[in-house]
Amino acid sequence: MKLTSKMAFIACTTALATPTLADEVEVLHWWTSGGEAAAVSVLKDDLESKGTGWVDMAVAGGGGDAAMTTLRARVTAGDPPTAAQMLGMSVREWADEGFLGNLNEVAAAEGWDDVVPTAVQAFGKYDGNWVAAPVNMHRPHWIWGSAKIFEELNLELPATWDEFFAAADAMEAAGYVAVAQGGQAWQEATVWEAVVLGISPDLYKSAIIDADEDALRSAEIVESFEIMRRIRGYVDPNFAGRDWNLATAMVINGEAGMQIMGDWAKGEVINAGLTPGVEVLCGVSPGTQGAFLFNTDFFAMFDVGGDKAAAQQNMAASAMSVTFQEAFNLAKGSIPARTDVPGDKFDTCAQKSMADLAEATAAGTLFGSLAHGHGQPAAIQAAYLDVVTQHFNSDMSAEDAAAALADSVMAAK
Ligand code: GAL
Repeated sequence: MKLTSKMAFIACTTALATPTLADEVEVLHWWTSGGEAAAVSVLKDDLESKGTGWVDMAVAGGGGDAAMTTLRARVTAGDPPTAAQMLGMSVREWADEGFLGNLNEVAAAEGWDDVVPTAVQAFGKYDGNWVAAPVNMHRPHWIWGSAKIFEELNLELPATWDEFFAAADAMEAAGYVAVAQGGQAWQEATVWEAVVLGISPDLYKSAIIDADEDALRSAEIVESFEIMRRIRGYVDPNFAGRDWNLATAMVINGEAGMQIMGDWAKGEVINAGLTPGVEVLCGVSPGTQGAFLFNTDFFAMFDVGGDKAAAQQNMAASAMSVTFQEAFNLAKGSIPARTDVPGDKFDTCAQKSMADLAEATAAGTLFGSLAHGHGQPAAIQAAYLDVVTQHFNSDMSAEDAAAALADSVMAAK
């Protein structure tokens, strides 16, 4: 399987690829919202200042589903990009198929083993070799609040679901949309996994990381769907198909009170010229203090061989430098993937993330995000997302959703 895919790839590459210049990298990514694009500029400018040109291959669509479809099509056609943004499980899958180049030399020169958290290394390395450069650590289970609405209604960011629903009632009574929600499966799954984690880190581990059937059929998973149903009741009727950043904009503009979303939402706040923690409040989603879900954006280098290798090594080295990781993550909303980047320039939300990460790592409550490609391989992840979105967009009962989830995940395993 491994050899066959790789051999087919080489044959196709020879026949079809249109090579870019040796000192250029063509980078496939899905960073197209205002905040994401600002972060991409940091990367592009950094590389260009070091003599490596940037050919942009942006594929719109939060969470990267469309980008991954395009990537698969490009590789199948024998025309892979030089580098691609990927989440952890994708790195593993592409490496397993034999497509990724080896970054050991640059990793050794720059000491990646010493500065990248073990949980991130587990995705950036395959068979003991570095195959992708991690640029950040995002945390998907944040709650963002409009400071204007919270102040007007004399509310505090909710730490429990009871407080959340009480705040939501007050917001609706005052004429605001309580919950800004986008309408794509990955966004609904971002909320669901936060709900599961909030019930307990043990439930997240057993039902999601271990995909344990008893856990999936448990009363707690039924409860998670009951909470989802209640949240759905506070979402405005126009949410279908809404992009995540438009939901974030509703909070930024003071039209909506709260959004549960990863800290890429903070990139939108910064890009709007506002200060996270001031005009837009940040806290962890209800019940999740003490635990930490993460998703890391990697750049994987396709094994395109020959004259591209130098530009690829240059890109990997740049993406992993302390100065780049600081500048990039200040714009992106995430925290650096390197643990030795000083935190003093970061906002209070990012500093909280850094402190919480250390605490969760020590407590054994650090887990990969299911919705963002670090919980389960793509096929099993899809089994979860299908049921979560089906439940959220219908009147399916919580009991039926838990049963359907267990059936769907067990069939996919
Ligand atoms: C995540 C990704 C982030 C952000 C988000 C929304 O999966 O890790 O960098 O881009 O999707 O597009």
